[in-house]
Amino acid sequence: MSQTENYQEFLRSRRSFRHFLPRLVPEKVLERILETTTYAPSAHNCQPWRFLIIQSFEAKTRLADHLGAAFRDDLLADGLSEAQAYPKIERSRRRILEAPLVIILCLDTTEIDIYPDERRQKVEHTMAVQSTALAGGTLLLAAHAEGLGGVWMCAPLFAPEAVGQALPLPSGWEPQSMLLIGFPVDIPEIRARKPISEVSRFV
Ligand SMILES: Cc1cc2nc3c(=O)[nH]c(=O)nc-3n(C[C@H](O)[C@H](O)[C@H](O)COP(=O)(O)O)c2cc1C
Repeated sequence: MSQTENYQEFLRSRRSFRHFLPRLVPEKVLERILETTTYAPSAHNCQPWRFLIIQSFEAKTRLADHLGAAFRDDLLADGLSEAQAYPKIERSRRRILEAPLVIILCLDTTEIDIYPDERRQKVEHTMAVQSTALAGGTLLLAAHAEGLGGVWMCAPLFAPEAVGQALPLPSGWEPQSMLLIGFPVDIPEIRARKPISEVSRFV
């Protein structure tokens, strides 16, 4: 296999992992992952991504409890009964508690350029979200390069206040997602991909 094919294969072999071995991510490995993540592209090279790193069981429990409470409110508002909501909340709580490493991927709003008009201000915020998401994707690939698995979870985007209540979130940090990282229990099947012909137009 050529080096190019190797790289393509590496990128295609990433999966979302949701179950992890009870094994800590070594400090040096975490450092390498974060360092690589900072090589992601960003608008104006402003690097608006921030990482809230959570490893202690106490902090994970606080996060799981607050996100769980917000999730419960949403599910009950959707019309689910307590009995219907409970297993969903518990599954989400267990995922957080069982992940050796939880990273809240945030956007530092203080890094966003100020414009005098709302239109460009909105674009600037969108660009910061895009840049932060690219860091998240890079982080998942950097973890994959270390033999770790990870998954992007959207819960903090639905309940950013819950993150702030659970953890000391620096001022201006806007939670975008939660990345669960650890040594995988097994390799999930690849999820079906739409063919190139469906997602592209050559003009
Ligand atoms: C923006 C975004 C939000 C996601 N949110 C969740 C989530 O809340 N829970 C979850 O289990 N997976 C979540 N995922 C992971 C996707 O389900 C997964 O990437 C997709 O099914 C394709 O599978 P793969 O990553 O294994 O290729 C999310 C992914 C992205 C990019």
